[in-house]
Amino acid sequence: MIDMAALIDAAFEVKKRSYSPYSQFAVGAALWCEDGSIVVGCNVENASYPVSLCAERAAVAAAVALGHRKFLALAVVAGQHPVTPCGACRQVLREFGEMTVFCAAADDLQHPEVYELSALLPHSFDLEASR
Ligand code: THU
Repeated sequence: MIDMAALIDAAFEVKKRSYSPYSQFAVGAALWCEDGSIVVGCNVENASYPVSLCAERAAVAAAVALGHRKFLALAVVAGQHPVTPCGACRQVLREFGEMTVFCAAADDLQHPEVYELSALLPHSFDLEASR
Protein backbone atom coordinates (compact mmCIF):
# COMPACT_ATOMS: atom_id res chain seq x y z
CA MET A 1 0.00 0.00 0.00
CA ILE A 2 1.40 3.35 -0.98
CA ASP A 3 1.67 5.73 1.97
CA MET A 4 0.87 8.95 0.17
CA ALA A 5 1.42 11.18 3.17
CA ALA A 6 4.84 9.69 3.91
CA LEU A 7 5.86 9.99 0.26
CA ILE A 8 4.83 13.64 0.01
CA ASP A 9 6.53 14.35 3.32
CA ALA A 10 9.77 12.86 2.00
CA ALA A 11 9.56 15.11 -1.08
CA PHE A 12 8.91 18.11 1.15
CA GLU A 13 11.88 17.30 3.36
CA VAL A 14 14.41 16.71 0.56
CA LYS A 15 13.34 19.94 -1.11
CA LYS A 16 15.27 21.65 1.70
CA ARG A 17 18.48 20.27 0.20
CA SER A 18 17.77 21.64 -3.28
CA TYR A 19 20.69 23.43 -4.91
CA SER A 20 18.88 26.10 -6.87
CA PRO A 21 20.78 29.40 -6.59
CA TYR A 22 19.81 30.49 -10.12
CA SER A 23 16.06 29.93 -10.19
CA GLN A 24 15.51 30.04 -6.41
CA PHE A 25 12.90 27.39 -7.18
CA ALA A 26 13.50 24.46 -4.85
CA VAL A 27 11.93 21.14 -5.81
CA GLY A 28 11.81 17.83 -3.97
CA ALA A 29 10.76 14.48 -5.38
CA ALA A 30 10.22 11.08 -3.81
CA LEU A 31 9.67 7.70 -5.43
CA TRP A 32 7.74 4.87 -3.86
CA CYS A 33 9.57 1.73 -4.94
CA GLU A 34 8.07 -1.72 -5.44
CA ASP A 35 9.45 -2.96 -2.11
CA GLY A 36 7.90 -0.03 -0.23
CA SER A 37 11.08 1.95 0.17
CA ILE A 38 11.24 5.66 -0.59
CA VAL A 39 14.06 7.24 -2.59
CA VAL A 40 14.36 11.01 -2.84
CA GLY A 41 15.94 13.61 -5.11
CA CYS A 42 16.14 17.38 -5.34
CA ASN A 43 16.95 19.73 -8.19
CA VAL A 44 20.65 20.50 -8.70
CA GLU A 45 21.34 23.58 -10.80
CA ASN A 46 24.48 24.65 -12.59
CA ALA A 47 26.11 27.89 -13.74
CA SER A 48 25.60 26.48 -17.22
CA TYR A 49 21.82 26.63 -16.80
CA PRO A 50 20.70 23.87 -19.21
CA VAL A 51 22.89 21.35 -17.40
CA SER A 52 20.65 21.61 -14.34
CA LEU A 53 19.02 18.45 -13.07
CA CYS A 54 15.38 18.22 -12.04
CA ALA A 55 14.39 16.68 -8.72
CA GLU A 56 12.46 13.87 -10.43
CA ARG A 57 15.40 12.71 -12.53
CA ALA A 58 17.72 12.98 -9.52
CA ALA A 59 15.35 10.67 -7.63
CA VAL A 60 15.24 8.18 -10.51
CA ALA A 61 19.04 8.11 -10.77
CA ALA A 62 19.42 7.58 -7.02
CA ALA A 63 16.79 4.83 -6.98
CA VAL A 64 18.28 2.96 -9.92
CA ALA A 65 21.73 3.15 -8.32
CA LEU A 66 20.20 1.54 -5.22
CA GLY A 67 18.83 -1.30 -7.36
CA HIS A 68 15.22 -0.21 -7.84
CA ARG A 69 13.57 -0.62 -11.23
CA LYS A 70 9.86 -0.37 -10.50
CA PHE A 71 8.16 2.66 -9.02
CA LEU A 72 4.54 2.70 -7.93
CA ALA A 73 4.30 6.40 -7.18
CA LEU A 74 6.10 9.73 -7.31
CA ALA A 75 5.56 12.79 -5.16
CA VAL A 76 6.69 16.27 -6.19
CA VAL A 77 6.73 19.32 -3.93
CA ALA A 78 7.92 22.78 -4.95
CA GLY A 79 6.33 26.13 -4.04
CA GLN A 80 2.85 27.30 -3.16
CA HIS A 81 1.31 25.66 -6.22
CA PRO A 82 1.47 22.03 -7.31
CA VAL A 83 3.94 21.42 -10.14
CA THR A 84 3.88 18.47 -12.50
CA PRO A 85 7.09 16.90 -13.85
CA CYS A 86 8.57 18.56 -16.94
CA GLY A 87 8.44 16.79 -20.29
CA ALA A 88 11.96 15.37 -20.03
CA CYS A 89 11.24 13.94 -16.58
CA ARG A 90 7.96 12.43 -17.76
CA GLN A 91 9.89 10.53 -20.42
CA VAL A 92 12.53 9.36 -17.93
CA LEU A 93 9.83 8.21 -15.48
CA ARG A 94 7.95 6.43 -18.27
CA GLU A 95 10.93 4.16 -18.79
CA PHE A 96 10.00 2.49 -15.52
CA GLY A 97 6.34 1.93 -16.27
CA GLU A 98 3.09 3.29 -14.98
CA MET A 99 2.96 5.13 -11.66
CA THR A 100 0.76 7.53 -9.77
CA VAL A 101 2.06 11.09 -9.53
CA PHE A 102 1.21 13.24 -6.49
CA CYS A 103 1.87 16.94 -7.01
CA ALA A 104 1.49 18.86 -3.78
CA ALA A 105 1.70 22.51 -2.84
CA ALA A 106 4.22 23.09 -0.04
CA ASP A 107 1.58 24.66 2.20
CA ASP A 108 -1.08 22.02 1.53
CA LEU A 109 0.71 18.66 1.50
CA GLN A 110 -2.47 16.73 2.32
CA HIS A 111 -4.32 17.67 -0.85
CA PRO A 112 -2.14 16.88 -3.87
CA GLU A 113 -3.18 16.83 -7.49
CA VAL A 114 -3.14 13.18 -8.53
CA TYR A 115 -2.30 11.92 -12.01
CA GLU A 116 -1.37 8.68 -13.69
CA LEU A 117 1.91 9.05 -15.55
CA SER A 118 0.23 7.74 -18.71
CA ALA A 119 -2.16 10.69 -18.56
CA LEU A 120 0.75 13.14 -18.25
CA LEU A 121 2.58 11.50 -21.16
CA PRO A 122 0.07 9.86 -23.50
CA HIS A 123 1.14 7.89 -26.58
CA SER A 124 4.65 7.71 -25.20
CA PHE A 125 7.71 6.20 -26.77
CA ASP A 126 8.76 3.53 -24.33
CA LEU A 127 10.62 0.29 -23.81
CA GLU A 128 8.01 -1.72 -25.76
CA ALA A 129 7.94 0.71 -28.66
CA SER A 130 11.73 0.69 -28.97
CA ARG A 131 11.97 -3.12 -29.39
N1 THU B 1 12.32 21.66 -11.71
C1 THU B 1 12.28 20.43 -11.12
O1 THU B 1 13.23 20.01 -10.44
N2 THU B 1 11.16 19.69 -11.29
C2 THU B 1 10.02 20.11 -11.91
O2 THU B 1 9.05 19.37 -11.97
C3 THU B 1 9.98 21.45 -12.50
C4 THU B 1 11.27 22.17 -12.55
C5 THU B 1 13.49 22.51 -11.46
C6 THU B 1 14.40 22.74 -12.61
C7 THU B 1 15.06 24.05 -12.19
O3 THU B 1 16.12 23.76 -11.29
C8 THU B 1 13.98 24.77 -11.42
O4 THU B 1 13.04 23.78 -11.05
C9 THU B 1 13.28 25.87 -12.21
O5 THU B 1 12.79 25.40 -13.40
